[in-house]
Amino acid sequence: MKSMFFLFIILDFIQYINAQCTKNAIQVDTNCYCNKQFYGNGANGGFCFPCPLGSTSLDPSNTNTNKDISYCSQCQKNYYMISPSSSSLLSPLQSATCNLCPNGSGTQDINAILGIQQCNVCQINFYMISQSTANYAAQCGPCPTGSGNDRIQNTVSGPQVCTLCLANYYMTAQSNPTSSAQCQACPSGSGTENASTAIGKASTCLICQKNFYMKTSSSSDKAAECIACPIGTGTQDIQKSISDQSICNICQMDYYMTVAASGSTAAKCTRCPVGSQNPSKPPITTPQNASSCSQCLRNYYMTKAADTSNAAQCTICPGGSGTNDFSNQVGDASQCDTCLSNYYMQTPPSASNSAQCVQCPAFSFKVSSQLIGSQSQCFCYDQNALPLNTINKCVCKNGYQGLVTSFLGGPSGCKQCSSGQFSLYGSLCQTCPPGSVITPDLGGCICNDQSKGTAPWDRSTNSCFCQDNYYGDPSKANVGDTNSCNPCPDGTVSKAGKAKKASDCVVQISTSINNSKKLLFFAKFLFFLVILI
Ligand SMILES: *[C@@H]1O[C@H](CO)[C@@H](O)[C@H](O)[C@H]1NC(C)=O
Ligand SMILES: *[C@@H]1O[C@H](CO)[C@@H](O)[C@H](O)[C@H]1NC(C)=O
Ligand SMILES: *[C@@H]1O[C@H](CO)[C@@H](O)[C@H](O)[C@H]1NC(C)=O
Ligand SMILES: *[C@@H]1O[C@H](CO)[C@@H](O)[C@H](O)[C@H]1NC(C)=O
Repeated sequence: MKSMFFLFIILDFIQYINAQCTKNAIQVDTNCYCNKQFYGNGANGGFCFPCPLGSTSLDPSNTNTNKDISYCSQCQKNYYMISPSSSSLLSPLQSATCNLCPNGSGTQDINAILGIQQCNVCQINFYMISQSTANYAAQCGPCPTGSGNDRIQNTVSGPQVCTLCLANYYMTAQSNPTSSAQCQACPSGSGTENASTAIGKASTCLICQKNFYMKTSSSSDKAAECIACPIGTGTQDIQKSISDQSICNICQMDYYMTVAASGSTAAKCTRCPVGSQNPSKPPITTPQNASSCSQCLRNYYMTKAADTSNAAQCTICPGGSGTNDFSNQVGDASQCDTCLSNYYMQTPPSASNSAQCVQCPAFSFKVSSQLIGSQSQCFCYDQNALPLNTINKCVCKNGYQGLVTSFLGGPSGCKQCSSGQFSLYGSLCQTCPPGSVITPDLGGCICNDQSKGTAPWDRSTNSCFCQDNYYGDPSKANVGDTNSCNPCPDGTVSKAGKAKKASDCVVQISTSINNSKKLLFFAKFLFFLVILI
């Protein structure tokens, strides 16, 4: 009896704890942890935030508590990792930074492997042109117009793997060993429900696509005749049979319904004021007024709530700031607590100010985030660019010449120099001059002799020579040599690099200028003397 009592207490306790987990959290033993794709405090009263775009956390467990953003350590399917998550105590906690695989390439699963080569498959409806290599994603081509396939591709192939025609297309020729299926779009607004694998005719376009109504059904040689719903209105689904306009009985989300559909006429819909939208879910059968536009779109904040006859007033977030979701609550610019993609956060939102966001340099990108950061959160499109924590624009890293790519996922515009050549910020690859060695960062050279009288190496001259008023030849120096340059003998001078031997030093030029001035003066004097006489 006693043990039964305790069992009840324990069961009760478990239930109690269960009830305590916050939204998007789950109980593990006696603790609440945020679910996969979330991080934060899973306990009652806590909050689980979604992982930043592209990243994800794993299923929670006692060893994987998802309690802070560093647990967003994985990249989602079809994203690759640019930088790993960080839980270092010395720097702010960070999620993994993940970017979408470019141009139809993808990954087979979530992953935590650095580098774009992780994009090693082609997504559905693409074929593989070449496999991924160290710095490149797999190159994937989109299946030609209307054609597609039903699985990801992980081997090189041609468009012939595009064997089917997508919904709303019909097939005029099957794929063969050199080409894809030939697919024709169904005529205006008509369509097919599913993808097709067999040859068909326009008459296989039996249905009307969403937001169209059917005037006549398909016949032996014709597609169904479909007519677009009036602007702002729409249908809830595709249409499989003849109907009139009254099937256009819903309004798009940025409209509200002023007159419901009836008899054979469509609903009448009026546009919500800029920045607001109508959250009502169809079907709506009774007329609405502007007060139905009660939500602000993402990246707008609400300055005034909707009232009995007016829409909510929504103001766009300033200067690269934004919100993570639509908003239902009146607030001020401090609701703009996120920086849009390609902006980093300089200061977080305060009293009534939005987050201060700064645009990433040209040809770089950043996923949107609520973390304070710096330019180093921006990543150049080019895989071979210098990281943005060392410089404030995207340029090729040392030892690579060229211009960085100007689009995401594009082939690198930075070509590696031959071994032993240097290049700085993409300049032409050059060989170090005699008497010098390349610097370890491949961005320049150091003259072997750096003792007194030698000129330091610089990129504009790319040679090793003596300074003004020294003679000698440091281009013959070996590493560690000194005294390649000696001062010119007394009373003589030289221009930098001009004197190889002591005898190349010349008598001071300045004296001769003084002398020539004296000469000029003497000549003038003589001239006047002659005139006077
Ligand atoms: C990848 O996409 C970009 C823009 O979307 C395009 O300009 C580029 O040509 C594409 N690259 C390849 C290899 O298809
Ligand atoms: C299209 O596919 C769905 C789901 O697989 C199926 O229920 C439906 O019958 C198909 N329609 C046609 C016209 O084949
Ligand atoms: C507008 O619609 C709302 C909600 O449907 C309603 O409460 C309100 O009375 C309407 N306002 C006017 C002026 O009809
Ligand atoms: C010209 O000579 C005078 C002395 O004769 C000297 O003080 C001066 O510095 C000289 N001028 C220049 C430009 O070298």
